[in-house]
Amino acid sequence: MKLAENKATLSFSNGSPSVDLPVYGGSIGPDVIDIRKLYAQTGMFTYDPGFLSTASCQSAITYIDGDKGELLYRGYPIEQLATQCDYLDTCYLLLKGDLPKEKVRKDFHKLVINHSMVNEQMHFFMRGFRRDAHPMAVLTGLVGALSAFYHDSTDINNPEHRDVAAIRLIAKMPTLVAMAYKYGVGQPYMYPRNDLSYAGNFLRMMFGTPCEEYVVSPVLERALDRIFILHADHEQNASTSTVRLCGSSGTNPFAAIAAGVACLWGPAHGGANEACLNMLEDIQRQGGVAKVGQFMEQVKDKNSGVKLMGFGHRVYKNYDPRAKLMQETCNEVLAELGLENDPLFKLAKELERIALEDDYFVQRKLYPNVDFYSGIVQRAIGIPVNLFTGVFTLARTVGWIAQLNEMISDAEYKIGRPRQLYVGANARNVKPVSER
Ligand code: SDX
Repeated sequence: MKLAENKATLSFSNGSPSVDLPVYGGSIGPDVIDIRKLYAQTGMFTYDPGFLSTASCQSAITYIDGDKGELLYRGYPIEQLATQCDYLDTCYLLLKGDLPKEKVRKDFHKLVINHSMVNEQMHFFMRGFRRDAHPMAVLTGLVGALSAFYHDSTDINNPEHRDVAAIRLIAKMPTLVAMAYKYGVGQPYMYPRNDLSYAGNFLRMMFGTPCEEYVVSPVLERALDRIFILHADHEQNASTSTVRLCGSSGTNPFAAIAAGVACLWGPAHGGANEACLNMLEDIQRQGGVAKVGQFMEQVKDKNSGVKLMGFGHRVYKNYDPRAKLMQETCNEVLAELGLENDPLFKLAKELERIALEDDYFVQRKLYPNVDFYSGIVQRAIGIPVNLFTGVFTLARTVGWIAQLNEMISDAEYKIGRPRQLYVGANARNVKPVSER
């Protein structure tokens, strides 16, 4: 970051001395007011729960222009990556800063694919879970447990350990997600194969059985690979900020990523794709498109607590570019599977059409986000609703790792420790029980 020409002066109406605060600029996007010395200079904190106006770090990984609906991974537009690259190229890009040349590309793909098996003991670890456990509960446990199996890559301050842990996490997440699924349906695990692509392996581990050869559909393989690309990283979202804060204590990479898994599970975040599909199925059950008007009235009624899941975003105040690409992928997959008339897809498009014309949504700049269509395409591929966030977890793992490693390799990083505005009781003395 570079010192801007500008500077901020904070003055107080109570006569306290004013304070000059430096302003820094990045390569694109809003400048920042550096308040690191504010408390020392004024004895006051800033106040920003939800961090609506707070930059928690400087980063060179992902950039979002919410007004334009633009998303860049290391400067490359998501539309170009999603159509010209594959997910492992995108992983390399996010981790290393640029797209790989042919030889490096081949080696990286091979390195990841050849590390997709998990320690056999994890099969026994799984048996502790109920068969009907939510896959995200299982994954939160499994990812944290990786630090119990891979002791030779747990020192987050060792660059080699970070590199090895990164490959292990990216390579093994599809295997763990598929294991969580197979465990829930009572089928045997399918071991990964080194002759399949990253997405092809995941499809076979999910839907293959030992009883017959599983043939990977190139259309579904490409669609899934694109879904992974679209979910790979997204600036300092809630789960990424969780990973950074957790990792700032120096804990091991697997534990920090497990914290991200737990955060992503929430319905306001990565759990929205599951919540969105459940919402569509509810409306469908109640009468489908004919019931959309009534449902929208509920959404606009503050007291209903009903939200249009898959709509709205903290940063995008325009169409989420990922939603557009996801809708295209939806069209391709449904056409390939002969499901063009999928009622939920038609319902989703009707909900979107109505919302984009409705003042409530237009005024609040609420548009479809990445989760609005992802559930429909995942359901068409055969992924169960309660595993949608597991797929999001699989794809976002590389973003979490890239962001964690960027923080740890910054010599200036400190353990994250926010302050507060205290509104509790003043100091008081404990009274004996008889006098309380
Ligand atoms: C992801 O941060 C990221 O980058 C996340 C993510 C990523 O890749 O990591 O992009 C992934 O989490 C996408 C978001 C998925 N969540 C959903 O689809 C759940 C539904 N969306 C909302 O919960 C909400 O839009 C959020 C949580 C996404 C954003 O919430 P904000 O920024 O805190 O906005 P807000 O709640 O203050 O909303 C502003 C207004 C409010 O109305 P008023 O109080 O001004 O009258 O818009 C309303 C909200 O009630 N509103 C909605 C709405 N989203 C916001 N009303 C109905 N339906 C919605 N979906």
